[in-house]
Amino acid sequence: MKTYKIAVIPGDGTGPEVVCEGLKVLQSAAQRYRFKYQTISYDFGGERYLKTKEVLPESAIKELKTFDAIYLGAIGHPDVKPGILEKGILLKLRFDLDQYINLRPVRLYDERFCPLKNKGPKDIDFVVVRENSEGLYKGLGEFQKKGTKEEVAIQVSHNTRQGIERCIHYAFEYTRKNRQRKELTLCGKTNVLTYAFDLWERTFYEVAKEYPDVKTQYTHVDATTMWFVKNPEWFDVIVTDNMFGDIITDLGAMIQGGMGIAAGGNINPRGVSMFEPIGGSAPKYTGQNVINPLAAICAMSMLLHQIGEYPAAQSIEDSVMMVVRTRLKDLAAGKMGYSTSEVGDLVVNGLK
Ligand code: IPM
Ligand code: MN
Repeated sequence: MKTYKIAVIPGDGTGPEVVCEGLKVLQSAAQRYRFKYQTISYDFGGERYLKTKEVLPESAIKELKTFDAIYLGAIGHPDVKPGILEKGILLKLRFDLDQYINLRPVRLYDERFCPLKNKGPKDIDFVVVRENSEGLYKGLGEFQKKGTKEEVAIQVSHNTRQGIERCIHYAFEYTRKNRQRKELTLCGKTNVLTYAFDLWERTFYEVAKEYPDVKTQYTHVDATTMWFVKNPEWFDVIVTDNMFGDIITDLGAMIQGGMGIAAGGNINPRGVSMFEPIGGSAPKYTGQNVINPLAAICAMSMLLHQIGEYPAAQSIEDSVMMVVRTRLKDLAAGKMGYSTSEVGDLVVNGLK
């Protein structure tokens, strides 16, 4: 029997607390579903940076490549200037490990936690496939005449045919394999970004020919945000570029009940993938045992799905759903009716 190697980066703020609950659920799931794993923890994050001035040691990327998966808590520290840790750790890992997919399921488990009127779990159940290695995140651009009244700041969206194609391929495969409705929407801005999304659109419809069983459609990104609020049931799987994906998945997180429940995967289908709750480090709740660990637990479920432990992954998701529906008063920090560790225990007890 294989022993999975899982790297754990608890990170900053409430990261360690929620990671602890995810690992608790992992331990119980491994016993029930009879698989073995080993974890190694890394202290990358704000505290380490403040102490050593080192964001991510050179050896880290090489080492992390030897794992089956990475489990991340949160990155972001109030005493560190915004951008340093995000770029130096989170984005660096995504880029250097070529995690070119950012997978964000948007699923509402209980009507009570949806801010939209008259929408329930059957209406909000879609997945965003965000390109995770290119676009505006590539960091191309420059200042001209910096500091003068004539200053210009240029920030370029860099899109390659190969980068788009591999992302779109993944989206079609994902839709075919995991979704009943089998509908894939390209979200772009073909009416204004006539280079980038022209390439995206051409690539989308070319790749679509290989997937006659998947229904396709296109929406502009601005309209997409409107439909997320008005008719979220229209969506099954959405594929989009890095920047639009970043924006629409925060809106997605809100309609599924908030940051307490939203998880994401940074996926390299042929390499090492990294799973994280997407809510951030929430410094003001740190150390109080009040933060919602369900997003981190859902991230663990996604991790197990990625490494092929499907029944364990499903069982965790089912238990989370049960806990949300039958136990929690609210999904927000401090309002759940239970502490962080109690919510972790509830999920453990709910595993089938
Ligand atoms: C996310 C985050 C990151 C991003 C930040 C922290 C760099 O917002 O994972 O969505 O913009 O991708
Ligand atoms: Mn984001």
